[in-house]
Amino acid sequence: MIKKRYYITTPIYYINDVPHIGHAYTTIAADIMARYKRIGGYDVFFLTGTDEHGQKVEQAASKQGIAPQELADRMVYGFIDLWKKLNISNTGFIRTTEERHKKVVQYIFKKVFEKGDIYLGEYEDWYCVPCESYFTEFQLVDGKCPDCLRQPERLKEESYFFRLSGYTEKLLEYIESHKDFIMPEIRYNEVISFVRGGLRDLSVSRTSFQWGIKVPMNDKHVVYVWFDALTNYLTGIGYLEDDEHFQAFWPCDMHLIGKDILRFHGVYWPCFLMSMGIEPPRHIFAHGWWTIEGQKMSKSLGNVIDPNEVVNTYGVDEFRFFLFREVPFGLDGDFSKNAIVGRINGDLANDFGNLVSRAVTMVNKFQKGKIERPEKKNGIDENFETAIRRFVDEYKKSMDTFSYYKALQNAFDIISIMNKYIDSEAPWRLNKEKDKRLSTVMFNLWNGLRISALLFYPFMPVKSQKIWEAIGIKRPIEKALLEGEEDFYYTEDISEITKISPIFPRIEG
Ligand code: MSP
Repeated sequence: MIKKRYYITTPIYYINDVPHIGHAYTTIAADIMARYKRIGGYDVFFLTGTDEHGQKVEQAASKQGIAPQELADRMVYGFIDLWKKLNISNTGFIRTTEERHKKVVQYIFKKVFEKGDIYLGEYEDWYCVPCESYFTEFQLVDGKCPDCLRQPERLKEESYFFRLSGYTEKLLEYIESHKDFIMPEIRYNEVISFVRGGLRDLSVSRTSFQWGIKVPMNDKHVVYVWFDALTNYLTGIGYLEDDEHFQAFWPCDMHLIGKDILRFHGVYWPCFLMSMGIEPPRHIFAHGWWTIEGQKMSKSLGNVIDPNEVVNTYGVDEFRFFLFREVPFGLDGDFSKNAIVGRINGDLANDFGNLVSRAVTMVNKFQKGKIERPEKKNGIDENFETAIRRFVDEYKKSMDTFSYYKALQNAFDIISIMNKYIDSEAPWRLNKEKDKRLSTVMFNLWNGLRISALLFYPFMPVKSQKIWEAIGIKRPIEKALLEGEEDFYYTEDISEITKISPIFPRIEG
């Protein structure tokens, strides 16, 4: 049987700067889905990487008096090390300065040129250097770049153009017949209205700087950085190198991006692919942006948050959890010290953490750490099981639609059912009365803990593993299956519970 496959990507990050919380957000979001799909039985390819060409990199390097490649070789570790620290489980990493990628970009550029979809012309318009984009007079906002509000320059250069205008109808047709191509809906509507406005041909080469991949038939030109960057999604899974692997994973299931780069992914990218005769990706999800203590994050305000510091202060799983518990995925959110401390002390220490220590303590105290599968269930136990199964179903639906916020709520619903079950079944009373029912109640609590740890696992892989170990499960949690031939409710072997120190210590201050 062919294993189900899933291919997810993050944007590739610019290396002219160190990573911040926004980069961490997209990457953790992709990691959560990759982990969720793996426990759903999928063979997952998870690609991330770095975008190393372009004028910004050239300028940053020249300011430091070094070659752009040297800058890239140095800066890339900021990302590689951070992904390790955040427990990102990517299976691929791509740098656009790699040979394998240059080959792909040049091959595609040539192919599209030969097909007649790229032609040589002259371009003049308003150009925003930081955004590496041209804008028409009409698109500017009070004469400023509509994306970053900085002053654009008037630029004229000989340029190759991609015949984007020829794809307006085809793209509209594709988007309209694939309602979930772009998610969430608000982003879908944005793209549709942009395309309905008509597409203009797109300049896909530059002569004004050097740091890029040379246009194969004219080395005065370098390939436009977005044409180069988007193509990473093909190179990363073996395009031109390993056709079998490429065919197995393309079309990509999900390009996860921030809302600022939607046009490149939702409009240009599918058109480039159509021109090459390659199927467009299945889905694109554009998430919202983080502000910091109510303000836009910016270097000039000095409020850029280094994810390394957040992890050092609050812990990696706490950080991962916070980002997706605080704000529905897709909307904008605000990062503040109060908010993260509140989430850790409330949701994690009080609710989840307390339940874990309560249940583990009772099994140790009343049953010497032993758990047995129950022979008898009464109506209350059956309701308990039905409710858990229902919330697991809800959780899966939420995850499948990238509703991380709801999925976490579904997991917390299980916590609250377990707390109610403890209160109504009062294991301490059963223990005192030497009632045989105690072992059934203990099994249910054990199993509820096991299942909630599994649901939290994509968000908090380390803490969930810790809980599994404490409740005596030998199989590593990342090898667990939430979906498969076996019924997830009764899968793991039952063994002994050990003592556990608080999983989520409270944070003072
Ligand atoms: N290199 C391009 C992507 C090319 S993909 C073929 C790029 N890089 S980036 O480093 O500037 O940004 C990468 C991602 O970080 C984007 O998805 C962007 O939305 C995200 N974020 C940057 N700042 C952010 C916040 N303040 N909040 C949330 N995400 C933000 O664009």
